[in-house]
Amino acid sequence: MPRILVLYYSSYGHVRALAHAEAEGARSVPGAIVDLRRVPETVPEPVRQNAGYVADDTPEAAPADLAAYDAIIFGTPTRFGMMAGQMKQFLDQAGGLWAKNALVGKVAAVFASTGSQHGGHEATLLSTQIPLQHFGMLIAGLPYTFGGQTTRDGIVGGAPYGAGTIAGADGALQPTETDLAGARFQGAHVARLAARLAAAEPAREVA
Ligand SMILES: Cc1cc2nc3c(=O)[nH]c(=O)nc-3n(C[C@H](O)[C@H](O)[C@H](O)COP(=O)(O)O)c2cc1C
Repeated sequence: MPRILVLYYSSYGHVRALAHAEAEGARSVPGAIVDLRRVPETVPEPVRQNAGYVADDTPEAAPADLAAYDAIIFGTPTRFGMMAGQMKQFLDQAGGLWAKNALVGKVAAVFASTGSQHGGHEATLLSTQIPLQHFGMLIAGLPYTFGGQTTRDGIVGGAPYGAGTIAGADGALQPTETDLAGARFQGAHVARLAARLAAAEPAREVA
């Protein structure tokens, strides 16, 4: 039975909505055990209040938790064209796991929310995959077998590199049905891959 972690950071709820859809998709795969966790907030309370961040009572993960999963799906908003510092801070604390090769051969996937259509959506999805490759994880994207990938109906997020949404410059947009379907598709895709890999020999040979 594959264990899947959906791990995210969200200031205004867009990534959180996608995270729930990712978890729903992963849970649709028989036998999958799915946890939904957020990375700890690092921004001081007065700054959060001033910027209107929304509260989130989802349980937090600790870096050491990652080793227990067969697959991890990472969600982040775009910050200046790349992942949020909260997520980077979390990953930067996983050096001990890297040193022990504890994540080698596990499945990883990324999803993202971005303010504007060309403000770094694909850059965020792709660059967030870089540290995951350092961990030795196998990257799963959002394949074109998801029909919504090529929709021409309105503004949608997502790319072959992962599910996503476009929040709007003022954050007023919400994930569309296509965005949420993409996140569910990616969650199920990852869970199916993890189930196959969990049944196989771990790929952790050291040479
Ligand atoms: C400090 C900061 C930097 C941001 N940088 C970008 C950016 O480079 N490109 C962009 O399109 N949106 C940018 N945004 C908008 C966020 O991506 C947007 O608020 C986020 O996708 C909403 O997701 P959330 O509701 O899960 O927090 C930025 C927002 C903040 C607060």
